[in-house]
Amino acid sequence: MTDPTHEFEPAGLAAPSPAPEPVAQPGEFAPLLIGSLRVDPPVVLAPMAGVTNYPFRTLCREFGAGLYVSEMITARAYLYGNRLTRLLASSRPDESPRSVQIYGADPIDVHEMARQLVDEGVQHIDMNFGCPVPKVTRTGGGAAVPVKPRLLARIVRAAVHGAGDVPVTIKVRKGIDEGIETYLDAGRVAEDEGVRAIGLHARTAAELYSGAADWGAIARLVEHVSLPVLGNGDIWEAGDALRMMRSTGCAGVIVGRGCLGRPWLFRELAQAFRGESPDPPPNFGEIVAIIERHARLLTSFFDATFGIRQMRKWCTWYTIGFPGSAKARAELVRIDSIDEMLAILRRLDPALPFPAAAMRAHRGKGGRKQKVTLPHGYLDQRDDDTPPRTPHGPAELAAFERSLSGG
Ligand SMILES: Cc1cc2nc3c(=O)[nH]c(=O)nc-3n(C[C@H](O)[C@H](O)[C@H](O)COP(=O)(O)O)c2cc1C
Repeated sequence: MTDPTHEFEPAGLAAPSPAPEPVAQPGEFAPLLIGSLRVDPPVVLAPMAGVTNYPFRTLCREFGAGLYVSEMITARAYLYGNRLTRLLASSRPDESPRSVQIYGADPIDVHEMARQLVDEGVQHIDMNFGCPVPKVTRTGGGAAVPVKPRLLARIVRAAVHGAGDVPVTIKVRKGIDEGIETYLDAGRVAEDEGVRAIGLHARTAAELYSGAADWGAIARLVEHVSLPVLGNGDIWEAGDALRMMRSTGCAGVIVGRGCLGRPWLFRELAQAFRGESPDPPPNFGEIVAIIERHARLLTSFFDATFGIRQMRKWCTWYTIGFPGSAKARAELVRIDSIDEMLAILRRLDPALPFPAAAMRAHRGKGGRKQKVTLPHGYLDQRDDDTPPRTPHGPAELAAFERSLSGG
């Protein structure tokens, strides 16, 4: 679990919107089929640590339709019964389908967690094999796992067996860096082991979240496997999703940073897939109402203190690009209550339109790259299927969890 106050990226204002993409023609895009699950429109909320908890999934679902995946849940912490981990993996009866992403590299843990999730009523399980965090890849976990296809197969097989009839998907990156691409092998493994769809974040672990995602890799994976491929990377506006599906042939899209502070993106996506022109984004006054709803969901699901601390980063994301908002943000990152938050937000003009430049602003993760560290001699043993060591004991696990931040 990341420190919720951690990720205050400055407003990385990105390129202007591309030329408008024509909305969907009747029958142009089929619903996404993931085993027995039918996802219509074929839109998936990306698992995002510190973000896609039940409150945010609820907010997104209220705007749109699709599949809303939990943030990554570490198998060992879940099995130890860590209170926060269990809460993050949990849901409420109004959420259906229930979808949880597992992070784990120990086949026994992953099998047991999948089994328990299914017992709890989870209807879709995703597996994270894209985590680029140095602490994880250095031990051979996360994005390092697909470097060893037999190890990947072993972990995936354990999840699929544990899940029984519940569909399992995997989410991978292109590879470690441009010299070590792993996604095509991962596609084959997924197919052989009974996975129902594969999500590709079309960047390498070295690229983290920087640069443009390589949609060409998504097209190559579509050619390579008979499974549904979910394309991921750089969907900022509804037109991007249609463009990605048209240009790569993928069966669905996974939407990450584009919806941070913009949950109405799911309404725009639903409209574009229905063949309608998307509504314009809300103005500032309407966004304040959404922020208040978000805050109430968070404080009631977690508690007042944890919930409002999380709102600090959300307020940053919701207000990026609005004229005069920088001063408000400096105060919003210190709020301790919903009333205080609303008092600050209400100082800005509610009639302000959503700024065009904020549409493609990169929220949540910035543009740096990294050199990926693998265990010593790792590339000499690509046929090996020995699982990496998983942290043991509550203290080691807590430190490990704090170091994680996604995929
Ligand atoms: C704040 C944050 C947390 C993330 N956490 C996870 C995670 O828990 N599991 C995962 O598979 N990917 C995680 N990711 C990666 C996203 O799921 C997605 O692959 C990535 O952001 C690329 O999509 P985008 O270009 O639409 O943002 C995270 C990304 C962000 C920005």
